[in-house]
Amino acid sequence: MPVISERIETDQAHLLHPLHHPSAHQKPKIWVEGKGAIVKDAEGREYIDGLAGLWNVNVGHGRKELAQAAFDQMSALAYNSSYVGSTNLPAIGLAEKLSGLVYPSINAFFFTSGGAEASESSFKTARFYWKALGKPDKVKIISRTRAYHGLTLAAMSATGLSAFWPMFEPRVPGFLHIDSPDPYRFVNPDPNVSQGVAAANQLEAALLREGPDTVAAFIAEPVQGAGGVIVPQADYFPRIREICDKYEVLLISDEVITGFGRTGRWFGLEHYGVEPDIMQFAKGITSGYVPLGGIGVSDEIHDVINGVPPGKRWMHAYTYSGHPTCCAVALRNIQILEDEKLVERAAVSGKRLLEKLRTLESLDGVGHVRGQGLIAAVEVVADKRTKQPHAPEAQMTQRLTDGLLERGLFTRVVLDCICLAPPLVISDEQIDRVVNVIGETIPAVISAAR
Ligand SMILES: Cc1ncc(COP(=O)(O)O)c(C=O)c1O
Repeated sequence: MPVISERIETDQAHLLHPLHHPSAHQKPKIWVEGKGAIVKDAEGREYIDGLAGLWNVNVGHGRKELAQAAFDQMSALAYNSSYVGSTNLPAIGLAEKLSGLVYPSINAFFFTSGGAEASESSFKTARFYWKALGKPDKVKIISRTRAYHGLTLAAMSATGLSAFWPMFEPRVPGFLHIDSPDPYRFVNPDPNVSQGVAAANQLEAALLREGPDTVAAFIAEPVQGAGGVIVPQADYFPRIREICDKYEVLLISDEVITGFGRTGRWFGLEHYGVEPDIMQFAKGITSGYVPLGGIGVSDEIHDVINGVPPGKRWMHAYTYSGHPTCCAVALRNIQILEDEKLVERAAVSGKRLLEKLRTLESLDGVGHVRGQGLIAAVEVVADKRTKQPHAPEAQMTQRLTDGLLERGLFTRVVLDCICLAPPLVISDEQIDRVVNVIGETIPAVISAAR
């Protein structure tokens, strides 16, 4: 192993990182190994991987089965085009497998390399669908504040975290936001309905304001992940579905984080008995071992795509759509999820995690604890009564991240919410350690910041 400091200097000289700024990259960690829910840095220190990489390493690190699946497919045929007229066995097998796993009305799939490309594919497919049906003005996309749908231009425009916008504006026209339903912070303006229905009714108000004939789709994550793990009210998505049906607007479920077991069900909207028209996925489909994402479309949309004349075809494509190696790894990954009953395990482990985290709610500075399956968050506030966040000068996000890392937990803190989405194989003992570390870190960080 070359000297670590020399490698870091070379990194600083030659690499641009996601969300790049040198001030946040003075002492980067070099990660070298992982096993299960544990990752090791170049200095040999071990950490619990609190976010399963970036919410994606669902089956845990160090899975030789996935390396073998990639090796076997690469040895046979690493890549060939799956442009119309060509196909390959792993892509066929994966689409067939997904048909049996996802929402019953979704049986046709298109593969991408990741989540942002999946968002683009959903938006374009929604517009295509309405144009094919003779409604060319239905083009707008409505999403929510605190949403994260990726950072290509259209996906960034749907993303509802404004920090991502200013240096890249103008955003794509026709993208607008309603409020996140955040049960902790959404203020219900209508005493006649529940908080969840009031939050969903914002969609109806937006549609009436914009004109439903101008709107193609509403996109939502079943649990808002990168916006701080926001689990909606039980009646939110049923009301959203009702509104989408009433005004003929497609419902896109962004399952990039919630797909493949994360919430204790295979897919996030299963908790609410609601089916989307388009779903998108990435991350957990391969547990991050190779890049893969995609969309699934309803039978109705599939029929429309198949029904247009050749000159109006669905002219959408990526070089790596249906990549044979990535699809082979995805198939093996899904087999692991099934064989080891990891979705069921996420439900059970998630219950333990949430129950233990709730014991932290009495701590000074803990505003809210929430979760669903193995995705959870602890929101830290300056004032529990008013829910006032810490001032930016307090640098709470950085202090919390560093404090957790010092105590052996590697995870992301966004908007002062400590986010958790560990590998689904995390043990009970490791869950308890995560909660203990958070319980020690918050008081220490708050008293140091005073
Ligand atoms: C819900 C959601 N959608 C889309 C994306 C974008 O995925 P990618 O980073 O693979 O482009 C993410 C990434 O975190 C996500 O959480």
